[in-house]
Amino acid sequence: MKHRPESGNTTEKSVVILISGRGSNMQVLLEAELPCCRIAAVISSKADVPGLDIAMQHGITTQVVAHRDHPDRESFDAALAATIDLYQPDLVVLAGFMRILTSNFVAHYQGRLINIHPSLLPSYGGLDTHERALRDGVKIHGCTVHFVTPDLDHGPIIIQAAVPVLMDDTPATLEERVLREEHRIYPQAVRWFCSGYLSLEANGRVLLNRMKQPGAALIAPGLE
Ligand code: GRF
Repeated sequence: MKHRPESGNTTEKSVVILISGRGSNMQVLLEAELPCCRIAAVISSKADVPGLDIAMQHGITTQVVAHRDHPDRESFDAALAATIDLYQPDLVVLAGFMRILTSNFVAHYQGRLINIHPSLLPSYGGLDTHERALRDGVKIHGCTVHFVTPDLDHGPIIIQAAVPVLMDDTPATLEERVLREEHRIYPQAVRWFCSGYLSLEANGRVLLNRMKQPGAALIAPGLE
């Protein structure tokens, strides 16, 4: 299904958030209180994770669809989709959801499934992004929100934030700097989608009709 942005469309959108752990991105989405979006449920692929407690404290319906209860990826994804669809979401948001999804699942949510990844895609897809960036000595790193396609961490890019890599960074300090930016760009992307300003075109391109063009370059290390 294709979603066309309609400027000024204020109809509230139903959003389901999928997590697997800490849930800090989920938390900022809940606390952003985006006017155009209603968080219908938070679903976790693991029981007893901190993110579930946070969601419950916010009065959000939670569910667990544990991957351990399913013999293979297909049956897990089918159970997950059945649970998600109870909430008839306009948008499904992956927020630290640590399972690779089957192409059937991804196709079912085409144009309404987004993810946040802790690197400037297409660099550093996959795991251990901060360690790998440090090892390569890159000077600029960051995070990306993108539509999900069957090609892991390679879907059409919606928004990115870049941060400098500092000389004494460790994976932990770099993660912290990147995570701070994740918490800024994810609510923005969800707000755009729910306001009708953002969609995925049939040709696979992101259509965003509410874009402020940045005026400055990020140069790292800085010029003197
Ligand atoms: C974030 O860095 C996100 O980009 C990645 O997994 C981490 C999840 O963190 N996909 P949290 O659960 O949102 O705190």
